[in-house]
Amino acid sequence: MSVLEVRDLTIRFGGLTAIDGLNLRVDEWEIVGLMGPNGAGKTTAFNCITGFYKPTRGRVYYQDRDVTKVPPHRKAALGIGRTFQNVGMVKSETALENLLTAQHTRAGYGAPQAIVGLGTVRQREKELTAHAEAILDLLGLADIRDRRIGGLPYGTLKLLELGCALATDPQLLLLDEPSSGMGPEESDELGERLLNLRQELGVTMLLIEHHVPLVTAVCDYVYVLNFGKLLAEGDPDHVRNHPEVVAAYLGGEAPEALAQTETPDDEPPADEAALAKPVKRTSAPRKTAQAKKATKAAPRRRPPAKKEAS
Ligand SMILES: Nc1ncnc2c1ncn2[C@@H]1O[C@H](COP(=O)(O)OP(=O)(O)OP(=O)(O)O)[C@@H](O)[C@H]1O
Ligand SMILES: [Mg+2]
Repeated sequence: MSVLEVRDLTIRFGGLTAIDGLNLRVDEWEIVGLMGPNGAGKTTAFNCITGFYKPTRGRVYYQDRDVTKVPPHRKAALGIGRTFQNVGMVKSETALENLLTAQHTRAGYGAPQAIVGLGTVRQREKELTAHAEAILDLLGLADIRDRRIGGLPYGTLKLLELGCALATDPQLLLLDEPSSGMGPEESDELGERLLNLRQELGVTMLLIEHHVPLVTAVCDYVYVLNFGKLLAEGDPDHVRNHPEVVAAYLGGEAPEALAQTETPDDEPPADEAALAKPVKRTSAPRKTAQAKKATKAAPRRRPPAKKEAS
């Protein structure tokens, strides 16, 4: 079953078509990458999927249900979690307080219960704190539990923001450039954490990411956007060697970029240098990942069958 399916998604801002007829699919337990140069429309796609923007055309399905018009807070309650490109947390609060705030959508009590049922509320707060601490442990952030987050490095904030998204118990997690602000080592660690999260919590993910080694390490499938249109899709190796993808990232024409990739056998291809250094794959191939979870998800068709217009 697909967890997320986007069909013919289109959004215009005045004369600008920021996304033009995008189709994409994320199956259960997959980590799917969304790549593309600056301004390609990646964050806008997230905003349409999560309900912050209203698409001009097209539909968004979550677990086979049409959620195109469902507002963001209800989508969060349905199990769609997200992080933002620019960290969105309360800088004057501690890491723990931010995680407690993030759990608001699943706290299960409001002001009347807080006044009437103090015992119940205390018990619930204990549970929420334990849940927040478990997330800090899972992300290796236990040390910053009581630190006000204002002065923390950007990479740590991005990781904590991922924790805040996890705190809502999402089934689908949308991550907007989670490795920004991280060095190569931190970014490798992040890749391992994402694979762990999938293993431990069974979360399905759609990941906006520029850092090719991370995409290669964790993604089962990748979509590449350019000027709002789908430029390429496939497994990470297929996509990063795709001449038009190389051209889009290099800012040149496809034939020129292709020429740059035509190197002797013993030299690394030019696109590797242009995009990023290759790293050893640490994610299980898609089939293995599915087998580990023993789901009966249908294998992804490549190329996907043409989807019906909505
Ligand atoms: N609310 C808005 N109003 C007008 N234009 C917008 C709005 N949101 C996005 N855009 C435009 O849509 C295009 C796509 O922007 P978007 O932020 O989705 O790109 P992106 O792929 O996330 O880029 P980056 O890698 O720089 O984050 C850009 O031209 C941007 O200026
Ligand atoms: Mg963006």
